[in-house]
Amino acid sequence: MARLAVIGGSGFSSLPGLDVERRQQVDTAYGETSAPLTWGRLDGCPLLFLPRHGDVHGIPPHRINYRANIRALADAGAEHVIGLGAVGGIAADCGPGVLCVPDQLIDYTSARLGSFYQGDPGDPALDHIDFTEPYCAKLRAELIESAELAGLSVRAKGCYGATQGPRLETAAEIRRMERDGCDLVGMTGMPEAALARELGLCYAALCFVVNRAPGCSDGPVTMAEINANLGLCSVSVGGLLQTLARQRIS
Ligand code: HPA
Repeated sequence: MARLAVIGGSGFSSLPGLDVERRQQVDTAYGETSAPLTWGRLDGCPLLFLPRHGDVHGIPPHRINYRANIRALADAGAEHVIGLGAVGGIAADCGPGVLCVPDQLIDYTSARLGSFYQGDPGDPALDHIDFTEPYCAKLRAELIESAELAGLSVRAKGCYGATQGPRLETAAEIRRMERDGCDLVGMTGMPEAALARELGLCYAALCFVVNRAPGCSDGPVTMAEINANLGLCSVSVGGLLQTLARQRIS
């Protein structure tokens, strides 16, 4: 089975249950990763882990070196990459605590280095990647099956809208995203997914809703609400990943 990597998002500066074997800071042609890469085993399954916001949640979404992170994971032998992401729920059935494996995305980010092809010396020659289906169908199916095996309900598709952050959205921005067909809103799903595709990695996102998106409930979105739901979601996300890991080695 291919080497699995997990990129942790908010709430996942470490991976619950991971037996750490080695940690190493790696440098890439694109700079440093968010944190040292961690090699370990989750319920016996070899796994690479990288927290995209750094060891202590310090790197905001617009300052993450997405290119270094994806390049480093590929260089370390990762073939399958699961990107964890805390999100706001836009669709009516996406309340706090909901797990979702999106099948589509819309990119609203700006001014991020979204490609390995910048025309810089040493860059690969330009290749227009196909991104019709932005996520790897096989890995999505594995996540959905693992959720079912773990007894967790999961929304098996959805459209992820990636915003620039670090501020949350206005109510009007969320209404526009809803009209566009977005079910979820987050700040880190892009360019991560596109960069993974550029390097031929099989990438899927596992999203967990930590708040109703701005304007979808009464009052402002608070960090207290987000943090409380992050704690709840980390239990189900951790359980799902442990089930997936066990399935991989069985
Ligand atoms: N908007 C954008 N990103 C987020 C949100 C949100 O409401 N919640 C968690 N990440």
